[in-house]
Amino acid sequence: MKSYLAVRKSRNSLSKMPSNYDSTFIHSLVRPDSVHGSVYTDPVLFEMEIDLIFRRSWIYIGHVSQVPSAGDYVTATLLGQPVVVVRQEKGDIRVLHNRCPHRGARVVAGKAGTAKRFSCMYHGWTFRNDGSLLAIPCRDNYAGTEVANNSGQFGMSPVRSAEYRGFIFVNLSDTGPDLETFLGDARRALDNMTDRSPDSELEVAGGRYRAVYDNNWKIYLENLHDGMHPPFVHGSSVDASRQVAANNSAGVDHFRLNVIQANGQSLEDMKELEVSCYAHGHSDMRGFRNPDDEDDPMLQAYWSAHAEKHGEQASAEILNTNLHNVSLYPATSAHPRFLQVRVITPLAVNQTAIDIQVLRWKGAPEELHHRNIQYANTVHSLSSMIKPDDLEAYQRIQEGLASSGDSSVSQHSKFTDGDNDRAPDSALSERYIRNQYRAWLEYMCGDAA
Ligand code: FES
Ligand SMILES: [Fe+2]
Repeated sequence: MKSYLAVRKSRNSLSKMPSNYDSTFIHSLVRPDSVHGSVYTDPVLFEMEIDLIFRRSWIYIGHVSQVPSAGDYVTATLLGQPVVVVRQEKGDIRVLHNRCPHRGARVVAGKAGTAKRFSCMYHGWTFRNDGSLLAIPCRDNYAGTEVANNSGQFGMSPVRSAEYRGFIFVNLSDTGPDLETFLGDARRALDNMTDRSPDSELEVAGGRYRAVYDNNWKIYLENLHDGMHPPFVHGSSVDASRQVAANNSAGVDHFRLNVIQANGQSLEDMKELEVSCYAHGHSDMRGFRNPDDEDDPMLQAYWSAHAEKHGEQASAEILNTNLHNVSLYPATSAHPRFLQVRVITPLAVNQTAIDIQVLRWKGAPEELHHRNIQYANTVHSLSSMIKPDDLEAYQRIQEGLASSGDSSVSQHSKFTDGDNDRAPDSALSERYIRNQYRAWLEYMCGDAA
């Protein structure tokens, strides 16, 4: 019998793609120092990106702390597909397509729970929590069919998954590099996030929120280490926060003011911030916010709890590693210093969802966790003073790119012939964007390592 898997794979492999979108054409869109504007606006390229980039790379789906005990599960959506992340009896974690092999209903409802088995609400097919088929009502009706001879295919099928330091990633492709190879040296950000915990453990706490932006997904990623934009884009919010600070009114939240004012650093200061590039399009940036008050008793308690567990020297090394916005290209970003993970989901060529999850350092004061939530709300909330500035810029880029004027998009800052796209550079350089496009080309032309 013909394999349905093969049919599904061929449908996913761009059967609708116009034949002129071949490797030669794709390569013509990307120069070493600039790209063609259509990479942000062409719906055909967008569909290709979903199939060739997003369905072939590792994407963060959740943290082990969300499923601490056997049978614990959380549901999630991966590129529009429902999945369920479930802790097995032996302690390992599986990710399953949340789809019934009978007539296709989503099996597991709700956000989270604990279960040894999952039952489909439509006709009662039941599955063990590893996804294997356990029972079918009226089994005799299937005598002589491939359902009766079930050799595994009539279960909830697994999604390729792996974890690194408690961060669970999934990959819709069965081929390609394993998670650690994919992360490469960029995993230092995930290490630092975890090591900042006195107990070397994290847990998800503080909820998750989604923002939908009216711009192409790449515009978001290209802003994450952009040290050129804050004086221009965030000028008004920096001015306002300076006025509030100058008035020194009662009840002013100095942590939030400091977070906003960090955007007011000069371009000379931004130039000193190092951005590191890695294989597969990843990058990270040295942090430019340090709103810690050294006399704060809460922070002092945290620092001594950390030093006690890790030792003075290791503790200093970990806490002095101040990273801002790591990009794990294409779909995951994290902030190690303020402990959040974001998942980037492209919804359309000009629309992108960002899901933000805040975690907590086990063994650290609760107030520090509240501060991290405050950071997320101050910088990333759509009602904050900072994020709307960025969104205005993202949207104007998307609008400007609709113009049929000069179609080139410049990435020339600090470009030189023979540019080594992975050497560390400054936050005023567009090297990290050029590094993203090298990965883009590798994925889109089918030669990603
Ligand atoms: S669709 Fe699930 S049992 Fe019928
Ligand atoms: Fe910004």
